[in-house]
Amino acid sequence: METSQLNRGQFLKQLGLSSASLMSFYCLGTGLTSCSKNDSEPAPIIENTGGGTNSVSSGVTGSTSGTIDFTIDLTNANFSKLKTQGEFAYVDGIIIANAKGVFVALSKACTHQSTTINFRSGTNDFFCPTHGSQFKIDGTVQAGPAAQSLTVFKTELLTNNKSLKIKA
Ligand code: FES
Repeated sequence: METSQLNRGQFLKQLGLSSASLMSFYCLGTGLTSCSKNDSEPAPIIENTGGGTNSVSSGVTGSTSGTIDFTIDLTNANFSKLKTQGEFAYVDGIIIANAKGVFVALSKACTHQSTTINFRSGTNDFFCPTHGSQFKIDGTVQAGPAAQSLTVFKTELLTNNKSLKIKA
């Protein structure tokens, strides 16, 4: 039988390869997260949300893990941009955002598979870039696949709006 007359499975069999082994090579080569073991997972969605800073310790005082109770210095270069609406920053496991003038602080790990979420100023919500879950600023899910709400922390402006307290 000639190759042109083989179907895909027969052709791969002749090569000694299965579809699964070819997929493994493909995934190793590309490193794409879409090569999930679970083919029912939605494909990753990449969105440029702008803003945000990495986790930092300068400008932070208090407990950022365990029982959350810390203060960020809004005059510190790491956090001063939080005074601008739509900006956000991370402190350890928490994302802090200026949501249209209201400071909100929530757990940053998506409740689906723990990807770090972003804040979207345009829609005033949180977005997970891995599979596209969306969360309202009160932490509730507005679009899956995530099914559980994010943890919300209390926020309070202190010292004439120069610092922000985040508390469980
Ligand atoms: S990790 Fe899957 S939607 Fe966030």
